[in-house]
Amino acid sequence: MDNSKTIVTHEKVESNNKSGINYTTVVEQFGCQLIDNELISKVKQVVKKDTLHPVLENNIFFAHRDFDALMDKCLHEKKNNFYIYTGRGPSSTNLHLGHMIPFMTAKYLQDIFDVPVVIQITDDEKYYQTNSNIPFEQYRQYAFENIKDIIACGFNPKKTYIFLNSIQNTHFSHNSVKIQKRIKLQHFKNTFGFTDDDNIGKVSFPSYQMAPSFASSFPILLHPPTDDNPQLDSFYNPISSFFGQIINPDAHKEYLKQLSNMKCLIIAAVDQDPYFRTLRDIAPKINEPKPIVIYSRFIGSLQGKDKKMSASVNNSSIFLTDTSKQVKKKINGAFSGGQETLELHRQLGGNPDVDVATQYIEFFSGDTEMVAKVKEDFRSGQLLSGELKKKCIEIVNNILDEHRQNREKITNELISEFMSIRSLI
Ligand code: TRP
Repeated sequence: MDNSKTIVTHEKVESNNKSGINYTTVVEQFGCQLIDNELISKVKQVVKKDTLHPVLENNIFFAHRDFDALMDKCLHEKKNNFYIYTGRGPSSTNLHLGHMIPFMTAKYLQDIFDVPVVIQITDDEKYYQTNSNIPFEQYRQYAFENIKDIIACGFNPKKTYIFLNSIQNTHFSHNSVKIQKRIKLQHFKNTFGFTDDDNIGKVSFPSYQMAPSFASSFPILLHPPTDDNPQLDSFYNPISSFFGQIINPDAHKEYLKQLSNMKCLIIAAVDQDPYFRTLRDIAPKINEPKPIVIYSRFIGSLQGKDKKMSASVNNSSIFLTDTSKQVKKKINGAFSGGQETLELHRQLGGNPDVDVATQYIEFFSGDTEMVAKVKEDFRSGQLLSGELKKKCIEIVNNILDEHRQNREKITNELISEFMSIRSLI
């Protein structure tokens, strides 16, 4: 009998099953679709590639909402008229490898689809959620450090906008107002588990995470003036665009219609579904398209896949600032799916499904074929746990080295460029 239990909410992820969270249950519970081979083939058709990165091929992104319809649209229109949206809640200066997955994926998808990316840094969110007395200003410091790590993933500065929630633009706030009006407190209590003891910041926050899912939150970035829409020129100034519906209602309507043709593809870990599930219900009521989402699994804690990595538990994760020695020590001490003795391992084989090092190779090697071989050899007993961990250490240290080098080159000018309002098209 399977009595495993999985809990996934926007603040907590837990499972009492050693092979980790039961993702099929999660999909059933949330009502999204699994990413299957047919969908992966469609993506290959759109981007004209034979193989994709393991985050897609190995089902690390395992679930979606309307991603298939988006791919059909791209094939039909022969252009990729969408932007990518992802984000990060800065809860410390120190990111761990699990935090990198949405950003690595967003950068990869930006490259293969050639589309803009917007990245939200929710300093407000983490301030509301934390019970300690950390001052609000401290979250800005976290944000600054996190932004450097995000840029170091290699985003294209011409097509990427990073913004901080505590410095908001008018269009973004405008959409948050419309969203807030449509949500009942009762719904949020059910969906997010808010209680009467929660601060009201927590309750208002979700609308700010939802608003970037509409292109109309970023008109200047996503719909700059072109020769065929000169009549809309007056709207690209932040003030006149805001009052556009009063100055010239017909042109404004047309402008909004064009903006809504640009779809949003959200990249997130599956615990973020409560936000986007709610928003998809509201969108038609405020004349906006439903956002499209793809969801990833979690990278397990070093102590076992049944727990999510946590930035606050030091030994549960590998941090971007860890030295190669620390990485070696942590991976060597990680939960293993190998047998107790060498003899038993050769005889019975290991279990890659619970093995933590195998999972890291799966997430970070970038090599779909190699991952399959490692799993097969470990299962058959041919590959020993020590050998597998050695491979894992090498892969992780290479990634961290490259990341450090990229991060060192980031200047304040570059950060300003990423955070400035300009055309991304
Ligand atoms: N709430 C996310 C976190 O806790 C941050 C975030 C903001 C986000 N906007 C997003 C994540 C969009 C995915 C997609 O880190």
